[in-house]
Amino acid sequence: MVDRTEISGPGFINIRLADSVLESLLAAVNADDRTGVAQAQSPETVAIDYSAPNVAKEMHVGHLRSTVIGDAAARLLTWLGHDVHRVNHLGDWGTPFGMLIEHLLDLGETEAAHGLSVGDLNEFYRAARVKFDTDDDFADRSRLRVVALQSGDETTLRLWRLLVKESEKHFIAVYDKLRVTLTKDDFCGESFYNDRLALVVDELDQLGMLLESDGAQCVFPAGFSGRDGEPLPIIVRKRDGGYGYGATDLAAIRYRTQELKATRLLYVVGAPQHQHLEMVYQTAREAGWLVPPAEATHIAFGQVLGADGKKLASRAGETVKLADLLNEAVARAARLVKEKNPDLDADTQAMVAQAVGIGAIKYVDLSSDRVKDYVFNWDKMLSFSGDTGAYLQYTYARIQSIFRKGGVTADRGAAIRLGAPSERALALELLAFPVVIEDVAETLQFHKLTSYLQGLASAYTDFYENCPVLKAADDVRASRLGLCDLTGRIIAQGLDLLGITAQSRM
Ligand code: ARG
Repeated sequence: MVDRTEISGPGFINIRLADSVLESLLAAVNADDRTGVAQAQSPETVAIDYSAPNVAKEMHVGHLRSTVIGDAAARLLTWLGHDVHRVNHLGDWGTPFGMLIEHLLDLGETEAAHGLSVGDLNEFYRAARVKFDTDDDFADRSRLRVVALQSGDETTLRLWRLLVKESEKHFIAVYDKLRVTLTKDDFCGESFYNDRLALVVDELDQLGMLLESDGAQCVFPAGFSGRDGEPLPIIVRKRDGGYGYGATDLAAIRYRTQELKATRLLYVVGAPQHQHLEMVYQTAREAGWLVPPAEATHIAFGQVLGADGKKLASRAGETVKLADLLNEAVARAARLVKEKNPDLDADTQAMVAQAVGIGAIKYVDLSSDRVKDYVFNWDKMLSFSGDTGAYLQYTYARIQSIFRKGGVTADRGAAIRLGAPSERALALELLAFPVVIEDVAETLQFHKLTSYLQGLASAYTDFYENCPVLKAADDVRASRLGLCDLTGRIIAQGLDLLGITAQSRM
């Protein structure tokens, strides 16, 4: 199996495998629909908490990151055969709904519903907030309304549902644009846990974990303290009897392990919520809701920055609306595609622009080190060369054009022969796919997948420049077509896991 070995500096031995070994490995991978990536040996039930926007507020770029990363995780783990639950922990409950419902009543139901469906969610929220801060009577009504909501008053619930429904439409529209796999059925917002909260409190109480602090019921998970060493609480039940974000997360983790029976819990949430989540995990461990083999992991991510190095904002200094951002990406991609390939018919051009624009947004996000901030730069992300999604899509399209031009299809059973050095280099890349997938499934660091795909695309380009394919003699030609085909399949599969669509012409 071994071609040669050599000492490579102190402590290292290079072992060079014989071409014939690589050739037979490649033949097996080529004949495999999954290009060498096996299904998980012990499939797990995985709950992925991602996207989670807030009702009556526009989604912002933080939700974009959560949506894109969470969706890639869902795609990858599903492909590996795990049982994946997408849980969209919508912010659809709590004190803001008092003022939102009162504002809705002030506007008149039909008027408000119309405004919400065509307009801007933020506007609605802001107007309610202003009244709450400036109008005492309104603020009082709002507080009473929260109580009515929490005690299940029918009229209040109906109005609340109306707000949630209108917001969900906005979110679904963004998901459709983004081509993510999240659907209406995955909404499992904070309100879902409402009738489980009392149970959670009882259980914590029975376990002797509840302590009163300033009139509120709290848990103090081990290992968390503030600046002066004082233990930090999760407030389970507020002084006014209401439950908050923390209590809901405790009910959610209990639901995920005990009812969904998930053993891998992923929380795709911005880095600033790290401590909150770790406290929830620790509390759940102490309460016996999170015990091995079940594990919870915070899939943290950094911020998206503008060119000025500050949090990405619109020209007016406001948070960028996601829908606008996505439309702009597609519009810019359309210009690029037209410039690159003016001969494409209009329909194909529109389809490619869609794939390239949305792909660019996802690619920048997934190709940067997840926990770090990254700077948003249109020119860099929308280019057919460099570390971009479009470069990978373009490489895929070029491979397909070989088959079109030659009027041939690849024979996946054809023998692969590695003659030229660039063939061998490409082969080594092709064989590395399963190893990369295994790593990414564990760490959910998708930049490792993007950099692998870049390496593969550049090894392919090298091969293509050095090795004629269609003009080669018959047996060499079949082998080289096999290398092209396998490269294309791995690029398309890799892109698909990132939520990016490969296009056969562009
Ligand atoms: N809705 C929250 C936000 O916009 C994110 C929720 C994250 N998930 C969770 N289980 N806490 O910040």
